[in-house]
Amino acid sequence: MIDDTDRFRPAFHFTPEAHWMNDPNGLVYSRGLYHLFYQYYPEDVVWGPMHWGHATSRDLVTWERLPIAFAPDENGWIFSGSAVEDTLGSAGFGPGALVAAFTVHDGEARKRGVVPVENQGLGFSRDGGLTWEKFAGNPVLRNSGEADFRDPKVLRNPVGKGWNLVLAAGDRIKIYSSDDLRAWRHESDFFPDAKDFGVWECPDLFPIKTGCETRWVMLLSQTAAAPNGGSGTRYIVGDFDGREFTARSALEWIDWGKDFYAAVTYSGAPEGKSVLVGWMSNWQYAAKTPTGAWRGAMALPRELALETRDGRYRLTQKPASGFEALPRRLLAERSGALPLSVRGLDLSAADIAFTLNEPRGPFAVELSNGKGERFTVSCDGSVARVDRTRSGTVDFSPDFAPETQILRSDRPISALRLIVDACSVEILFDGGTQVMTNLVFPSEPYSAVSISGLGEGALTASAPIVRAALPR
Ligand code: FRU
Repeated sequence: MIDDTDRFRPAFHFTPEAHWMNDPNGLVYSRGLYHLFYQYYPEDVVWGPMHWGHATSRDLVTWERLPIAFAPDENGWIFSGSAVEDTLGSAGFGPGALVAAFTVHDGEARKRGVVPVENQGLGFSRDGGLTWEKFAGNPVLRNSGEADFRDPKVLRNPVGKGWNLVLAAGDRIKIYSSDDLRAWRHESDFFPDAKDFGVWECPDLFPIKTGCETRWVMLLSQTAAAPNGGSGTRYIVGDFDGREFTARSALEWIDWGKDFYAAVTYSGAPEGKSVLVGWMSNWQYAAKTPTGAWRGAMALPRELALETRDGRYRLTQKPASGFEALPRRLLAERSGALPLSVRGLDLSAADIAFTLNEPRGPFAVELSNGKGERFTVSCDGSVARVDRTRSGTVDFSPDFAPETQILRSDRPISALRLIVDACSVEILFDGGTQVMTNLVFPSEPYSAVSISGLGEGALTASAPIVRAALPR
């Protein structure tokens, strides 16, 4: 039962119909469908014995919810992982089978304080991803004694015919190879150069073009010490030869907001695109957000590009093409000297863009409603500050809105895009060179946008029009 009275239910972000959701899992594109699996506990609105929930989409905007793909078994709960299309049938499940790799987490052993508790298992589908079975020979990759040994991401080996797998193990990322997705050889360990990160989780490794070069991006999620507190996702650019990852950049934040975690990319997306999906929450307070019958939403799927700027690599992000192609209703357009403001809008699901013309001075964009609740982004040179301390309900956790959040860009900020959808604001700075994702829980939708500061600028607000999911 969908609770239509729930005012925090987004229009174009994926949410489970009911109960708890965290990480995106098994992101694979096959036969025209984007599959989205997710960490799911179908009995409560807090984390519990993990299942893989399942949904599919043709456009990454509208989703069809499908039955649970994997439920806990004697090997354990089904933690995060990935999926690939095994075109040649190398794993023995038939050509074109979809194969999922996940962590089996022995929750009972953990309760008794016994280590190791995490191994890797496989699941497969022979009908294009509609129904799934677990491989009878699980687990296929056993833990050699690490307390944390999880979240396998499978990718094609860039030099051979087989596969690679990366997973997070304590302070390192382990890299494996295989011919058949069942027997895995350990190739190397990569130690990200970071301190106080808590635990690494949900690694990803994928190629991406920049100019005429191909580089490899490793994504890593860390449980603690994100720039604005709690859990966050990072990236590092380098090379990968099928055995070892060599870093060619520092670790960067893929999103500076408080609510973007466990982000990973699609396997096999059309045109070689890198399409990223993250979970919009933070382990600091994920179990306390005030959404009612469901808890957890995915961020808007984003296409990634790699730029080289001043000798540094920079991942840029934009909403995936299905979102950009939605028809829109224009809500407001204003331009001229600041301040600019417009009231009386329905910003429950809106795409708001502001560009500052020369001269560039400090400026701020504020969303507000008739209850005096407001969400503010203030930019001064290359630094942005986001204030959600009065954005709506914030008192469910002291970590939700303790103070202003900060973002440091590497150039003066002059353009913002705010994508608002019931309980979230995703901010793209300067065409997506930096991003900040935040949950908000206003007691009624924001209805005004005001821009203060120096100089002149142009503001547009539109409402994307979302239709029902396209048929499978
Ligand atoms: C990340 C994570 C993963 C784990 C899953 C459990 O948010 O902790 O490391 O597989 O969630 O639900």
